[in-house]
Amino acid sequence: MKTFFSVNDAGDIQTLVDTALMYKQHPLLHKAGGKDKRLGLLFLNPSLRTRISTQIAAANLGMDAIVFNVDKDGWRLEFEDDVVMNGTTVEHIKDAAPVLGQYFDILAVRSFPGLLSKQDDYSEQIIHQFAKHSGIPVLSLESATRHPLQSLADIVTMEEVLRAGTVKHRPKVVLTWAPHVKPLPQCVANSFAEWVIAWQHADFVIAHPEGMELDPKFTKGATIEYNQDKAIADADFIYVKNWSSVEPYGKLLEAKHDWMLTPERLSVTRNAGIMHCLPVRRNVELSGALLDSANSLVTRQAGNRVWSAQSVLAKMLGL
Ligand code: CP
Repeated sequence: MKTFFSVNDAGDIQTLVDTALMYKQHPLLHKAGGKDKRLGLLFLNPSLRTRISTQIAAANLGMDAIVFNVDKDGWRLEFEDDVVMNGTTVEHIKDAAPVLGQYFDILAVRSFPGLLSKQDDYSEQIIHQFAKHSGIPVLSLESATRHPLQSLADIVTMEEVLRAGTVKHRPKVVLTWAPHVKPLPQCVANSFAEWVIAWQHADFVIAHPEGMELDPKFTKGATIEYNQDKAIADADFIYVKNWSSVEPYGKLLEAKHDWMLTPERLSVTRNAGIMHCLPVRRNVELSGALLDSANSLVTRQAGNRVWSAQSVLAKMLGL
């Protein structure tokens, strides 16, 4: 595996999931597998879970992981071709990425979208340029339009619940838009949608107010519903996430506070497990009571980030 940017790079999802759950039982099974291999973790934006879980995953495989916060400590990078660099950018990706390719065996990059131009963000220029110019395998730690390690951990979490046997039918999974105070990327929602659809183990509904449609290339095969109560009826899993509008691009929708889920709202579900990638704004996106309830799967999801990263790194190492 040379790149891990989307579900299209995952190969057989079930194998990745099974490997992740195997590592959860046996974290150090391949402790020697990454010996003498170095992972570069580059952050152009902040992180808690992705950074730490990927470091732990690398350590479990015996890899040496080096974190570099480009946003705080690095030179400001230029990604446009043929520009006169007389502005604020100091180093071109064409010069920086090959150097990183000398230092590392695998490069992992986090870079959020600017939310100014859909064309720019959806071209995935930044992560593609790292892949093109570094000459080594590149792993996404969340890019402009997707968050594949998060989505794999989300599938792993649902599989865990399903294997425990409490859900005996084909599950209903709902991705629901939630309110927020600022415009957020569409990455987590896009990615969750494409992974659930590719997983093929659930009936999948996406609920959002009219006007908050995701790009159809991520949602083909899902049922779209504008009524949240109707959408979550009989749900087994509800994934809660805000995203900004795709058209017009990157805008905050007017306050829709009634889209914030509370424990009472779950009465129409099949005692649904509540999912969120975190960080979450309590009592804005999701009620604190629901996050603190037995229905919440959010901590388990975040814990499973380790095993999903370890599964992907192992595949990149050819283990
Ligand atoms: N879910 C997630 O990616 O969390 P971080 O932004 O803290 O890494």
